[in-house]
Amino acid sequence: MRHQPLVIGNWKMNLDYVEALHLGQQIGVMLKNKPVEHVDIVLAPPFVDIRSVTSIVESEKIPVEVAAQHVNANENGAHTGEVSVSMLKRLNVTWVLVGHSERRSMYAMDDATVSATLRHALRGGLRVVLCVGEALEIREADDQDEFVRTQLVSALKGIDARFHELLSVAYEPIWAIGTGRTATSEQVASMTAHIRNVLSSLGVDAARVLYGGSVNTENAATIVREGLVDGFLVGGASLKAESFLSIVQSCDDCYDGKR
Ligand code: PGA
Repeated sequence: MRHQPLVIGNWKMNLDYVEALHLGQQIGVMLKNKPVEHVDIVLAPPFVDIRSVTSIVESEKIPVEVAAQHVNANENGAHTGEVSVSMLKRLNVTWVLVGHSERRSMYAMDDATVSATLRHALRGGLRVVLCVGEALEIREADDQDEFVRTQLVSALKGIDARFHELLSVAYEPIWAIGTGRTATSEQVASMTAHIRNVLSSLGVDAARVLYGGSVNTENAATIVREGLVDGFLVGGASLKAESFLSIVQSCDDCYDGKR
């Protein structure tokens, strides 16, 4: 593994602030009982839960950082329902997901908006996880490499080198998200290599490449070992402390030549 692994729990539109507090607390207790040495852990709760989660993380000194699932590309103004980078930073949020496929497909986030949002978040000092991945038709036509290349180039072309260390990429094939149908280790390994090539052609060599899509306690160890990823973006399995931390543990076990 080339980088310290990164595992992000994307809670999506689940858990109210009381439930979020409970899950944060459980994760804190479990990490205290069984510390994880080599994994950067990030929690991405819904906006309305962020304050509760950052408060408990700070008061209990839980070794995790907090992400937002989305941010607006503008600094402020007439954007009903949206949230800005500075609002997130004020809450000690340090990461943001940009261009999750659910934002792209359900909320009309096109490549231009993804690019503008990513640049705005980086300029504001947030760490960005750029999400890319193809729909089933594209995979069936074997066009996934070109599709993902276009998404990466459109989002990252011309990004100032001083921002490179803030970037990670999550490969999330849409057909694997929330479906229980995980990409095979070969598919993940091949796409991870492709993404690293495209990143390197853009001069972005340092970015971690994650996989997301029905990751669970059963498949995490194999995918991290054979898929050659630097970690995971986890949806459903991040809603329970046990399953989330068992995925984190798989990455910890794999780190440092242990794979
Ligand atoms: P899933 O979601 O793990 O529930 O498939 C992953 C994601 O969308 O980030």
